[in-house]
Amino acid sequence: MKRTLNVETIKYLKKGVKVCGWVQRKRSHGKIIFIDLRDRGGILQIIFTPKDKKLYQLAQKLKPEWVIEVTGIINRRPKGMENPKIETGKIELQPKDLKTLSQAKTLPFSVETPGYEISEKIRLKYRYLDLRRKRLRKNLEIRQKVIHFMRDFLIREGFIEVETPILTKSTPEGARDFLVPSRLQPGKFYALPQSPQQYKQMLQVAGIEKYFQIARALRDEDPRADRQAEHTQLDIEMAFTKQKDVLDLIEKLYLNLVKRLFPKKKITKIPFPRVTCKEAMRKYKTDKPDLRKDKKNPNELAFCFITDFPMFKWHEIEKEWGAMHHPFTKPQTDDLKKIKKEPEKVLAWQYDFSLNGYEIGGGSLRTTNPKILLAVFEVLGHKKQEVKKQFPHYFEAFSYGVPPHGGIATGIDRFLAVVLNEPNIREVIAFPKTGDNRDLMMGVPAEVNAKQLKESHIKILTKKKKKR
Ligand code: AMO
Repeated sequence: MKRTLNVETIKYLKKGVKVCGWVQRKRSHGKIIFIDLRDRGGILQIIFTPKDKKLYQLAQKLKPEWVIEVTGIINRRPKGMENPKIETGKIELQPKDLKTLSQAKTLPFSVETPGYEISEKIRLKYRYLDLRRKRLRKNLEIRQKVIHFMRDFLIREGFIEVETPILTKSTPEGARDFLVPSRLQPGKFYALPQSPQQYKQMLQVAGIEKYFQIARALRDEDPRADRQAEHTQLDIEMAFTKQKDVLDLIEKLYLNLVKRLFPKKKITKIPFPRVTCKEAMRKYKTDKPDLRKDKKNPNELAFCFITDFPMFKWHEIEKEWGAMHHPFTKPQTDDLKKIKKEPEKVLAWQYDFSLNGYEIGGGSLRTTNPKILLAVFEVLGHKKQEVKKQFPHYFEAFSYGVPPHGGIATGIDRFLAVVLNEPNIREVIAFPKTGDNRDLMMGVPAEVNAKQLKESHIKILTKKKKKR
């Protein structure tokens, strides 16, 4: 007999089914044993009575989280025994056969609660158990629906999804790189991508015109509630585009997405407000204002675009200029003298996308004029020859016919955390890292053996730290 999912059993009244899953709960009332069987779709109640002695004895042995297979008949529950809270609340399974597929030790925590009360360390060490809870399963399902919607929407808009390398070269996005030593090129390193920024621009030179990717971006930053070492972006780049085209596209995407997948949510203002950075700082004292009318309302979404950021920001400690977004962003002036002499006055074609006070996206139009790109890097303290050495492909590529282009990347983890009212992006990621960037389930970062170090041409100089 083929297996039936618990939620599907409602279609099989008075008929035989085979179900499989985990024992969520076992209760005894008098001589009757009630088992709540959990599978990926939901819960089904199974009733064992002493009438069938052999089966009853097997059921007595069952413990929470054992994996079982049960065949039997679906019956209507007696009057007054229905449970309106679950989809299968009107029926129950009268078993004919029971097989234990796997026993389980006592779990380190309950998987029946939402789980917020359990310490992060234990939850992440046993993430494969933590993910058994309904809340996290639902979050992963919604995550998939959101990503599916984005893909579908952009493909219909004529975009092509292109995968870009994970072993690559440092992109200055403002964070530290994760480095990977090369075995075949001693002393040389790859960097894991802080974003696909350089590749997506090269794809515009290649004539792709409308690129997107559900991309993993890796940044060696200190994690926070809205920041992880690895995050997922909806990454977009378009040729022959203006700022308005990018913002209009993102507005259309998120409007439709919320309407379809989160119909209970109310969007504060449509079209989404577009506010300059200067205006936002004056009015709200922040470049990611929370524009909700009622901040206590969990179903309100206030989207907002912030535009016209300054091109550069002054780093007081290092006493140097940095790029507000990244160096490939196009300044709003072509005046090389102004860029070099009065960098504080230069605005950029840069925009951020915010939701309820969180930055959920950022992008810009890009510089395609090599002279301007060099001037920007000069302000950032790089020598002309250095820049040409670090990014030779830009200068070379842009000399073969480059379309004007721009794009954006939106943070999928952050959007999900806000829309699902989760306090931390960990709650919407299957295998997140801890507050100090460790994966406690896999036990990484970890030491590697001497052979691997030798092959990677790496010598460890620092002393081993004591285990925490
Ligand atoms: P940016 O650096 O602004 O732009 O990143 C885009 C969006 O990604 C999300 N984000 C993060 N989410 C979780 N953890 C992190 N550590 C993290 N860092 C960023 C934010 C952010 O707005 N290449 C450019 C995009 C472009 O110019 O097209 C970029 O990556 O929601």
